[in-house]
Amino acid sequence: MDPGHDDALALLVALASLKVKGVTAVCGNQTVDKTARNARRVLDLAHYEEISVHQGADRPLFRPLVTAAHVHGSSGLDGYHFHLRDREKTIPADAQQWLECEFTQEPGDIAWIATGPLTNVAAFLMGHREFVPRIKKLTVMGGALNHGNITPYAEFNFYVDPDAAHWVLAQGIPIQLVGLDVTHKALLAPDALERFVSFGSEIGLMLHDLFAFYFKHEPNAVPQGVPVHDVLAVGAMVHPEFFAWRRVNLTVERCDEKYRGQMTVVSESARAATQVAVDVDVARFFEWMWAMLANGF
Ligand code: BDR
Ligand code: CA
Repeated sequence: MDPGHDDALALLVALASLKVKGVTAVCGNQTVDKTARNARRVLDLAHYEEISVHQGADRPLFRPLVTAAHVHGSSGLDGYHFHLRDREKTIPADAQQWLECEFTQEPGDIAWIATGPLTNVAAFLMGHREFVPRIKKLTVMGGALNHGNITPYAEFNFYVDPDAAHWVLAQGIPIQLVGLDVTHKALLAPDALERFVSFGSEIGLMLHDLFAFYFKHEPNAVPQGVPVHDVLAVGAMVHPEFFAWRRVNLTVERCDEKYRGQMTVVSESARAATQVAVDVDVARFFEWMWAMLANGF
């Protein structure tokens, strides 16, 4: 992940609904030192100090980094002043090694959620093709069948590292792709700010301050609410039945700069490994999200 406001909320919802093994940070919304630090800060504030954070790629596979400071601020998580700052100084830059150890020591199936550019995932699997069949579910926030958000054609995560996105989608991994077609339907209403405060916890105050910032800066924020993209990816991992899916073979544009990161459906096939979300039951998704947060924090 590349926290990132919506990544931070996604991480909390994941903590409350899954057994999280660890976090690899990737560059995207901000530089990787910042996204790793942000993941550490959120985990520590939520009292999940035992979950490790590993710094990963500091640039996309083959291109310079483009960040989203216009959405997430200069820290990548602007809006809240974090006090706990000791452990963030010692985050190891060992995402690739850590993944190798996890895949080696964990004999079972692998479930993986990616809420940033796919650089870490691609770099790891390019060097470890033998692990590809072990991944039984990879849920990705990225792409758009219709309109983009960083350009008219491309979604941000796929735009930042289109080479990684294209490669990962071509590996036959069972992927659930959660793109803008659904994330722009599930808007977090402005009254969320008061609901966060009503948790009566420091995490609630953090979410309030972070989302007060995000409501002002997310380009697709409207009076009804703001998209919380990455949280939908966690929702899809835990409750795929909240979504309507299409099985498709996809490509991602890497050559024409104008269309860079654009996702195109090559064919629809019952045998395709990738499922793309085309609709979401917004009410059920938010009911679940709030229940998870209320229980967990
Ligand atoms: C994606 O881009 C980032 O800014 C968000 O965190 C999300 O992962 C949405 O296009
Ligand atoms: Ca993200």
